[in-house]
Amino acid sequence: MEQFDTKEYWARLFSALPLPKSEIKNWVSTNVAPFKELMSYYKCAMMEVETKFRVLSEELSLEYDRNPIETIKTRLKSVESIGDKLSNLNLPITVQSIEQNLNDVAGVRVICGFPSDIYTLADAFLRQDDITLIARKDYIENPKENGYRSLHLIVEIPIFLHDEKKHMRVEVQFRTISMDWWASLEHKIRYKKDVTVTDGIAAELRECAEAAATLDKKMESIQKRIYDKTD
Ligand code: GTP
Ligand code: MG
Repeated sequence: MEQFDTKEYWARLFSALPLPKSEIKNWVSTNVAPFKELMSYYKCAMMEVETKFRVLSEELSLEYDRNPIETIKTRLKSVESIGDKLSNLNLPITVQSIEQNLNDVAGVRVICGFPSDIYTLADAFLRQDDITLIARKDYIENPKENGYRSLHLIVEIPIFLHDEKKHMRVEVQFRTISMDWWASLEHKIRYKKDVTVTDGIAAELRECAEAAATLDKKMESIQKRIYDKTD
């Protein structure tokens, strides 16, 4: 990700600006500083959400003797992606517009072992009284046409600053290892790239996603039989 705080970044930005040197300081304080502040709020919200999952993971692994979370990944949307998304939507590129229109500046991806872990974690997370659910898309129950599977939540979470409380939006994606494997490779191959694939290739990609989902179900059933001692 682009580092806002490196000298090289600012040097490059300044040299690209059509502003006399005397006005740069003013430009930075009116434009860049509020943007950096907003990004730092998103980072705090992302950290809060990540901690909540680390806490749940700690507790659930004690209770079930098995960690339901394999990996947690976090990412802040890059300046370029924010700019691209807003301009594609014909929206102003301002701090206010980012807060109003984008739900995925802060992203947390929770990768689980089994499909049922996803719902256990999502339910436990949403029951917490400082979390407000804004939107829920269940691409596991209803996979996308291309085969993509994941549970997506957009939530609002408070962050406590020294003199105020702010509510920030975070996108949380829940996937099993195999859903993540498919999505990562499909992303490399195709997603959002300007390539049109033939119907045959699209069908093969979908078949891969379905094969992964079948394996997920099979592994979960094996795990359950061992855990419940039913075999
Ligand atoms: P974006 O504008 O891309 O954020 O999508 P959206 O607002 O329509 O939301 P959606 O919940 O459908 O997708 C959000 C995110 O899920 C994307 O940014 C990707 O990270 C992931 N995603 C959604 N669909 C696909 C897909 O078909 N393939 C892959 N690899 N990832 C996907
Ligand atoms: Mg997105």
